Amino acid sequence: MEIKKESAAIASMAGRASESVLVLDEIGSTNTELKRMAREGGEAGLVLIADSQSAGRGRLGRSFFSPARSGLYFSILLKPKTLDAGRLTTMAAVVTSDAVSSLFGIEVGIKWVNDLFFGKKKLCGILAEGVGNGMAVLGIGINLERTAFPPELAELATSIEEISGEKPSRNQLAAELIMRLDKIDLESNSHMEEYRRRSILLGQEVFLPSGERVLVRDIADSGALVVEKDGRLTELATGEVSVRWQ
Ligand code: BTN
Repeated sequence: MEIKKESAAIASMAGRASESVLVLDEIGSTNTELKRMAREGGEAGLVLIADSQSAGRGRLGRSFFSPARSGLYFSILLKPKTLDAGRLTTMAAVVTSDAVSSLFGIEVGIKWVNDLFFGKKKLCGILAEGVGNGMAVLGIGINLERTAFPPELAELATSIEEISGEKPSRNQLAAELIMRLDKIDLESNSHMEEYRRRSILLGQEVFLPSGERVLVRDIADSGALVVEKDGRLTELATGEVSVRWQ
C-alpha cells in the first residue's frame, strides 16, 4: 500500500501530524479499510483518503460511484464516548455543509438523513459505521468534478465544479473537513439547529418505502424524522424517505 505525498500536504494544511493522514491511490472502500486499520490498533483521528474506490459503499447496502480524480473519498476514525451512528451522520452533514459553504460559497441542503443536495441533485453522501471496538468510522464522499456518471446517476448527481464553475482543490477540502471535525464535540446535539435549518424535507410531503405519503413535521434532536401520518406524529429513527420533486 503506497502512501501518496499528498498525505503530508493535507496534514500540514489541517495542522495535523503527517502520519495521521493517509492518501492512497485506489482502494476498495476507505471505510472498510479504515475499519480494518482500527481493529489493528489505528488511533482515533486517523484519516484515510483514496483517489478512487473500486467498491465505494453507501447506506442501505448501496454502492457509491467513486471514479479517479472526480471526488473526495474520505474516512476518519472517531472514538465518541457513546456510539451513535445517527448523531455522527447528522454532525457530518452539518460539518460538510459548512466546509463547502466556506470554501466555495455553495449553500447545500440536507436530505435526511445523510445526503447533501444542491437543488434536486445529490452532491455528497455520508456513511457512519461502528467498528466493534468502541470506535466509529465516518465516511464522506463528495462529487468534485463533472464526470461520466453512469446513466442512472447522471440525472440525480451534481458536483462542486458544475455548481461553482471552477475545479475545486480536493486537498484543501479534505484539510477543511479535518480541521472542522477535529473541533467538534462528539457528544453534543448542538449541531441539530443548523441541521434543521438546512433540511430540505421540513414541511414537505414525502413518501415512505411503503409508498405512504406523510408530512415532515420536525427533526428531533436524536436525528429522528418526525412525520405526520393519519393525523398522528411518528418518529422514524432511521431509513429513508423519497421526495417527488415538483
Ligand atoms: C450514501 O450515499 O449513502 C453514502 C455514501 C458514502 C460514501 C463515502 S466515500 C468514502 C467512504 N468510503 C465508502 O465506501 N463510503 C464512504
